Amino acid sequence: MSKTVKVAVTGAAGQIGYALLPCILRGRAFGPDTKVDLQLLEITPALPALEGVVMELDDSAFPCLGNVVVTDDPEVAFDGANWILMVGAKPRGKGMERGDLIRENGPIFVGQGRAINERAADDVHVVVVGNPANTNCLIAMNNAPDVPKERFSALTRLDQNRAYAQLAGKAGVTVGEVSNVTIWGNHSATQYPDAENARINGQPAFDVISDHDWLRGDFITTVQKRGAAIIQARGKSSAMSAGNAIVDQVRSFSDKTEEGNWFSAAVASDGSYGIDEGLIFSFPLVNDGQGSYEVVQNLPLSDFAQEKIQATLNELRKERDTVADLL
Ligand code: NAD
Ligand code: LMR
Repeated sequence: MSKTVKVAVTGAAGQIGYALLPCILRGRAFGPDTKVDLQLLEITPALPALEGVVMELDDSAFPCLGNVVVTDDPEVAFDGANWILMVGAKPRGKGMERGDLIRENGPIFVGQGRAINERAADDVHVVVVGNPANTNCLIAMNNAPDVPKERFSALTRLDQNRAYAQLAGKAGVTVGEVSNVTIWGNHSATQYPDAENARINGQPAFDVISDHDWLRGDFITTVQKRGAAIIQARGKSSAMSAGNAIVDQVRSFSDKTEEGNWFSAAVASDGSYGIDEGLIFSFPLVNDGQGSYEVVQNLPLSDFAQEKIQATLNELRKERDTVADLL
């Protein structure tokens, strides 16, 4: 193994943890030649279950697996961590919106944010998954003032992947032929999956898909409500696709973005597109492959798109007000 990376995963005994850890250890996140030291965090009552997960990791004989630490102490879990994947939080149930979890899950990200500030490696990257992901990320970031803001993101890659799959299905192509899809705003039912700037085989999606009512209607609502549809069908929230998307997001922040394309993640706004600075908002991003990313500028936004973006911005402002005491 040429390199070692220390990866902390919170809520590691939960269902996303169970789907995510094998993806990481098969080399998808950090490459097959990188040894992964895992630092797994759980609440105290879940530690026995986490020990069982670790037995299964051992029994899988993953060549990438290095040391494993199991703990209920965030300071131990985040010590020297290069990547922190913050999954640990309660999921919503049927009939709930993700924002309904805000006062229950938000406080988790205060103490864990402080522990990141104190203990993580200088090059740490943090991906927040626990819902409501954007605002939990805002809380963690604000409680880790010594960590550059650009190192925090919240997961909207699952929404992007969902949008790719919907567009590919409608156009009768593979997802590899879809590009330039943006998820704007919140990982919630107000997010705006943008097909106006999307491309299919390099052509505007609106030229390839003639059903524009679908592009402005069912496409958007299907992506916005996909998490709820999965809960309705499975009785539990998404886990396989979430674990897969976390790995995709890690890769997008690690690798140079393919020429002409972009990816979506929720990051601290730099004021682009008139979004309040510091708010965690999903944007189209490109990574230069040298450790920094930029928001793609000057994408054309129709009145329809601007209205949708305003709605998701308003929701995020309200969420920020609801947790003002935690920031
Ligand atoms: P789960 O209930 O199966 O697992 C969550 C785990 O977190 C549990 O094992 C629990 O003990 C642990 N946990 C709770 N509080 C903790 C704390 N303070 N510190 C450490 N661990 C803690 O839930 P899940 O299905 O794995 O989902 C986890 C979270 O991810 C939920 O909030 C869910 O809504 C969210 N989620 C987000 C996305 C996204 O795209 N952003 C996608 C799927 C799920
Ligand atoms: C998802 O999008 O699948 C997750 O955020 C889980 C949920 O509550 O919808």
